[in-house]
Order: sequence, then structure tokens, then C-alpha cells
Amino acid sequence: MEFENILTENNDGILQIIINRPKKLNALNRDTIQELHDAFLDAKDDEEVKVVILTGTGEKAFVAGADISEFSDFSAEEGRELAADGQAKLFDFVANFPKPVIAAVNGFALGGGLELAMAAHFRVASDNAKMGLPETSLGLIPGYGGTQRLPQLVGKGRAMEMIMTAGMIDANQALQYNLVNHVCEPEELIEFTEKIAKKIMKNSLVAMSAAIRAVNANYEDGVNGFEVEISEFGSSFGTEDFKEGTSAFLNKRKADFPGK
Ligand code: COA
Repeated sequence: MEFENILTENNDGILQIIINRPKKLNALNRDTIQELHDAFLDAKDDEEVKVVILTGTGEKAFVAGADISEFSDFSAEEGRELAADGQAKLFDFVANFPKPVIAAVNGFALGGGLELAMAAHFRVASDNAKMGLPETSLGLIPGYGGTQRLPQLVGKGRAMEMIMTAGMIDANQALQYNLVNHVCEPEELIEFTEKIAKKIMKNSLVAMSAAIRAVNANYEDGVNGFEVEISEFGSSFGTEDFKEGTSAFLNKRKADFPGK
């Protein structure tokens, strides 16, 4: 598929999806959100894709937010639609993606950029990264899940402070806040993230999808995550990966998961 605002590159099962609007610090306009949706949709059914790494072009920005020039004259109704459409198409889509998604945060991750990184299953940052939700400085609040996912990751008090001050934290503070799992040198970011992806790929990707559903159930209103876990645990026994995983262990060999 041809894209204008993103690049994709599959290296042995690790698909990099790279937001590529460097002149606008990779800000998310409508077309970019649509292209990201399409790229994830493709990746979902593509058996050659095992893990996705989401990152931005260049060393300056992961994503500097939603494209402000696109919504500066929006009405309340248009604003509501913008958030609802973006959440469904991209942010919730990534959060519930059945394959692991890792955000490699390579610079500014602001507003929608931090919200996108937070929608990924976990985050690795380069030491020059800066993260924040500056929406209140624009007379807005975060609209792509930021008011929900930031408190889940860093706790209510820290999230409130970040949202209210509209300030940025650096990569080391993000590490201390549990917002990112690792910090590394900018030039090592992709290699380091790929190493984690390779570790993930040794395990059952069928089990990975079930784990994503079970972990996410904890954050869904009215859903009992323990019950989802019991059900997903039970279903795992019916998979070929379970048979391979247990038989490999009992026969003291490495598992070669069929992914079914
Ligand atoms: N939407 C639209 N355009 C954006 C953008 C955004 N969120 N973030 C950056 N850009 C554009 C700038 O307008 C500028 O375009 P121009 O060269 O045509 O004028 C270009 O990207 C470079 O940004 P610039 O501001 O000149 O870079 P900087 O190094 O001085 O500052 C930031 C970097 C990230 C601090 C600054 O760009 C910024 O504050 N961006 C907005 C962040 C934000 O509020 N995001 C939340 C949106 S809801």
C-alpha cells in the first residue's frame, strides 16, 4: 500500500510504522490518522507481521500532537466528532491491536503524540524525548484518550499536574513515572526496541493476543477482568501453540510455535 505521511518497513516480522511529516514535527492530521489506521489494518491480517514498532521520522519528534491547523475553527460538534473518530480509528484500535505494539519515542511526544504512545502496549524512549499533554494551553483537554490513559500509567496526581501545567517531562522523569519502560541513546532506540520485539517473537503470538485482551479488560468499564482471564486461559488450551509449547518443554527442546 502507498502512503504519503507514513513509512512502513518489515524486518523479519518486525513491522516499523514510521510517522513521516518531519516538517510538521510529525503532527497527526486527518490523512495521517487514516493512513496509520490502514497500515495497522493491513498488519493485523498479515502473517508476516509479528510485532509492530511505532516511531517518528528524525530525531526531533515522535509526534508533536494533533495538527492544530486542521481544527482551529472547529465547532463543539466537530470537535466531538474529531475525538470520537480518532479514538475509534487509531487510538483504541492500537490499544486493542491483537499483536504487540511498542512505541519507540524518539523526540517530542506531545498531545496526540503522547496519547498515541500511550495507546501502544508499552513504550521505550530515547534520552532526548520530551512528553506532555499541552492541550489546556490551547483551551482544550486531551481528546485522544489522554485523560484516561495517563492516570492509568502514572497515577492521578501526576496526570493532573501534567494536564494542568501543560508542561513537558523529559525521558528520565517519564521513566521514573512508569510512562516509559526503558530509556536509551537516540541512535540505539530502534535496535534496542527490536531486541525486545525479538524476545517477544519467541513466545506464542496466539497467547500474546489473549494476554492483550485480558490485560485490557482491567480498564474496561463493567467488565470483570478476572473472568476474561479465566475465559482466555481456558481457550488457550485449545490452541496448537499450547500443544507445541508444552510438548517442547516436556521434551527439553525450544518451542517452534505455529501461531495457531
Ligand atoms: N500541529 C501543527 N503544526 C505543528 C504542530 C502541531 N501540533 N507542532 C509543530 N508544528 C509545526 C510548526 O507549526 C512548524 O511549522 P512551520 O515551519 O510551517 O511554521 C513546524 O512544525 C516546526 O515546529 P516549530 O514550532 O517551529 O518547532 P520548535 O522546535 O520551535 O518547537 C514544539 C517544537 C514541539 C515545542 C512546538 O512545535 C509546539 O509546541 N508544537 C505544538 C505542540 C502541541 O501543543 N501539541 C498538542 C496539540 S493538541
